[in-house]
Amino acid sequence: MSTLIVVYTRSKNNLLLAQELQMRLQCKLHLLTEVKPRSGFSVLLEPLFPAKTELVDTEISLTPYEQIIFVAPVWWKRVAAPMRLFMQQHKEEVKKYSFITMCNGVVGQKEKLEEELTALLGQRPVAVTELWVGSLIFRAIRHDLALFDEEITAFLKALEEGK
Ligand SMILES: Cc1cc2nc3c(=O)[nH]c(=O)nc-3n(C[C@H](O)[C@H](O)[C@H](O)COP(=O)(O)O)c2cc1C
Repeated sequence: MSTLIVVYTRSKNNLLLAQELQMRLQCKLHLLTEVKPRSGFSVLLEPLFPAKTELVDTEISLTPYEQIIFVAPVWWKRVAAPMRLFMQQHKEEVKKYSFITMCNGVVGQKEKLEEELTALLGQRPVAVTELWVGSLIFRAIRHDLALFDEEITAFLKALEEGK
């Protein structure tokens, strides 16, 4: 099955996760970049003062891919704004998708994310997985991914079964 990983990251945790998935699946990866990359401070203020989001290179088409794996942080219990924008822009091109995030972790958040993704993309995700780091300011190194080996394997198995 042809797979594309689409990743947005601000402080690189989710980039490491996406690279791990890419290594396991041997597929393409598309990194979302903002025209004006945001600071941690602006993420902190997001609920009060949402920053304008503009992405570099939105020309990519998702149509050739049978499934998309979206990888992004969670901010304020929502998918990070740049990924939300990309999903809205490419909604019609998505055949099947899943979402995985390295995030702080909040009880009940996964269900909320599933609802948000379904509303954004007009279809339910095949799988949603949160890798909980237990801190808002955690900065992962490659070695930390070993902690999530079982969850990553289970996520990929769910994709296989959702074929
Ligand atoms: C202001 C702010 C709000 C956040 N809100 C949430 C949240 O609601 N739920 C959650 O699980 N993680 C939350 N996080 C944690 C991020 O999702 C986490 O740090 C993530 O790994 C960052 O990803 P990145 O390094 O790829 O940018 C928040 C982080 C910041 C800085």
